[in-house]
Amino acid sequence: MGAPAVRRADFLMALAYATDLATGHSRDFALRSCVLAMRLAKVARLDEQMCRAVYHQALLRYIGCNADTHLLAAAWGDEIALRRDLHRIDMGNKSEFVETFVRAITRTLADAPPAELAKAVERGLAEAAQVNIPILSGHCEVAQRIAERIGLSEELRENLGQIYERWDGRGLPRGLSGNAVRFPVRLVTLAQDAIALTDIHGFESMTAMIAKRAGGAYEMELAEVLLTHAETVLAGLDGPVDRETILALEPAPHAFLDEQACEEAYLAIADMIDMRMPFTFGHSRAVAALAGAAAKQMGLPASDIRGVRWAAYTHDIGELAVPVSTWMRARALTERETDAARLHPYHGERALASLGGDGPIVAALVQRHHERLDGTGYHRNSRGPDLSPAARILAAAEAFQTARESRPHRPALSDQAAAAKVRGAVKEGRLCPDAVEAVLTCAGQRARRAPPKRLAGLTPREIEVLRLIAAGNTAKEAASKLDIATKTADNHIQSLYSKIGVTTRAGAALYALERGLVQQGISSA
Ligand SMILES: [Fe+2]
Ligand SMILES: [Fe+2]
Repeated sequence: MGAPAVRRADFLMALAYATDLATGHSRDFALRSCVLAMRLAKVARLDEQMCRAVYHQALLRYIGCNADTHLLAAAWGDEIALRRDLHRIDMGNKSEFVETFVRAITRTLADAPPAELAKAVERGLAEAAQVNIPILSGHCEVAQRIAERIGLSEELRENLGQIYERWDGRGLPRGLSGNAVRFPVRLVTLAQDAIALTDIHGFESMTAMIAKRAGGAYEMELAEVLLTHAETVLAGLDGPVDRETILALEPAPHAFLDEQACEEAYLAIADMIDMRMPFTFGHSRAVAALAGAAAKQMGLPASDIRGVRWAAYTHDIGELAVPVSTWMRARALTERETDAARLHPYHGERALASLGGDGPIVAALVQRHHERLDGTGYHRNSRGPDLSPAARILAAAEAFQTARESRPHRPALSDQAAAAKVRGAVKEGRLCPDAVEAVLTCAGQRARRAPPKRLAGLTPREIEVLRLIAAGNTAKEAASKLDIATKTADNHIQSLYSKIGVTTRAGAALYALERGLVQQGISSA
């Protein structure tokens, strides 16, 4: 079965969710700012083209902000806390700006002697521009490149090149001012600040702060539009915003991504995730190559191979919720840091939950990528019966690939040592032996046992038919979903019944259930 087409706006929402986490914003920040910006666009009677630009700018403004986060963390410590502090201030106000960076250094060196702290503050402030400007320029460039890969126009990409510019010329990196800052950029900056300031200080203080900054950070006229209509345009934006609201706001024509475009969009997300730290560069791509090849070798249906590959591209998207300074630490994590880090599969599932098409399948696999057969994984401590063949393959590929990459607290293992490690996990009952051997064979390691047998010798097509009938479809319905003749579906059913040793639909359904072929997000119904 080919992958169903997905609304591009769904991908934008997944990216928005992830970047909200990475930038320390509150829940649905980008979505709420999108609603506000579109309401302002309506009040200002913007034309369709401008509305489209506003819509995309609001959802995608921070998609480049993962690039080189390690440099930001090296200079300022917990970058999510720093970003959270920056949302509170007028970045054109030098004393507020300096105070924020001093706070960041103080937070990082909390235990240092006062003299050392004073020196670090002096050095940090002297080097601030040198550190920050190239990083912010990189954010713009990366945002533009990701936007290109998900098919957005040149014009929309131009806007993403100006995300930190301001009306008064005190923005970064180019110090553009007035109309040189493109209109959608000006509008979305205002809308996002209004949401952030309302979250932090409340509605009344927000309006006072926007009024104070009008003519500085924001174009006077635009700020007046917001202030005049503040109660109406901000109505209901203090809580979560659902997917349907954002889909309904998208100016026509609505873009859909076919299977090939989805592949590129998932891959763009992989690169966005992996660019955060030098030691994860290429991690998601490598896991995807191994997991996809292993799924093929194990004879899984094309939809599973695609699903496991897309899940591998996005499996660590939830890591964005954890500061890079945590991942970069060479010492063992504290209990609190470990707990936060172990929640990343949960955030990953949440980020991908709104995706249409194969999204639920991908999200279910992402959620399980650190689970282990014996229940010792995280974050749900799922066990074998809840782990499909695809989930087992993803876990094995991720474990092997991570072991052969270096991390701040340990060097990379050789391929042989990494293979020994995952085989050790098989002996302990944590990883699936078939999945591990398939992954290792695909990684060029000599097989330790005969290639894993397909599930009861079922063909990929028979697995698809089994899933459909287990999910309650009749032979005719299964045939229609697979775009084959009913008689062909009947033949597959007879063949798979005899291979798995059952004679009824119920028996087949139980077999599918026991082997993790039917579960949340994995149903083909
Ligand atoms: Fe990973
Ligand atoms: Fe992970």
